[in-house]
Amino acid sequence: MYSQALNTASTPADTSEVATRFQIRIDAEERIEPNDAMPDAYRRTLIRQISQHAHSELIGMLPEGNWITRAPSLRRKAALLAKVQDEGGHGLYLYAAAETLGVSREELVDQLLTGRAKYSTIFNYPTLTWADIGAIGWLVDGAAIMNQIPLCRCSYGPYARAMIRICKEESFHQRQGYEIMLTLCRGTDEQKAMAQDALNRWWWPCLMMFGPPDRQSPHTDSSTRWKIKRFTNDALRQKFVDATVPQGLHLGLRFPDPELRCEDGHWVFGTIDWDEFRRVLAGDGPCNRERLAARRKAHDDGAWVREAAQVWAAKQTPGRKAA
Ligand SMILES: [Fe+2]
Ligand SMILES: [Fe+2]
Repeated sequence: MYSQALNTASTPADTSEVATRFQIRIDAEERIEPNDAMPDAYRRTLIRQISQHAHSELIGMLPEGNWITRAPSLRRKAALLAKVQDEGGHGLYLYAAAETLGVSREELVDQLLTGRAKYSTIFNYPTLTWADIGAIGWLVDGAAIMNQIPLCRCSYGPYARAMIRICKEESFHQRQGYEIMLTLCRGTDEQKAMAQDALNRWWWPCLMMFGPPDRQSPHTDSSTRWKIKRFTNDALRQKFVDATVPQGLHLGLRFPDPELRCEDGHWVFGTIDWDEFRRVLAGDGPCNRERLAARRKAHDDGAWVREAAQVWAAKQTPGRKAA
């Protein structure tokens, strides 16, 4: 655990007085900081949300990492390498933000590696062609931005501050993805077909990224009251569709949704397959096992680095032993 001097052990238990005073601060748009009193449920909600977000960043490196050696030019390779590194950095900022709530990074990583933690379902889909790298940047990072911009104003200070830099980097990711799609769509018929196929496969899973519909979302009420969440799942999904459909039409692509139509300035879309979402969330997506196996291998391969770092740190601090 890398954060220090936190008062989590002495935080008063939830009483109606603590909850009332806390809500007054939230309503006044005050930022909550690590040593402030907070209801246990607020702390637990944030640990769950921030750690799931951190895990998603790390697992999200895997489908794209597969393409670094196969990028079609040096420029594409450099951009993809930078993007994948950014995602690793996002994971680290977020684990650090979660640690300020009194949970250790080791514990969170253990939850991920032992299959006890959730991460975004989107990263359990395969990347079959180079166009998938374009579609991921354009759509997956685009959806991430839509979800994360409001989190820059989230009530918990360390999370909100981490999100500011993350959103700037996600914006670069979205643009590099869209530029790949644009290049393919202006290329040969075969390249355009590849872009269309990637859109066909990524569109619906991207809509699922915003989470279950509001009527089925168990966390929305309290998260909204605590200003962790500023918009509901359905509102963010609609904003994403409204922003993204014109971009796809500009590319000359068709969306895989026969019901998609514009009404009163909004793009109305068809029914999302929530059974598929639940299956992938429960561990039965196309690549769930492969992703976790790759993450476990990376963790095992890095054991000597962690050990060396601890031995080195112990040597720098007299009296401290390597853990
Ligand atoms: Fe990210
Ligand atoms: Fe990203």
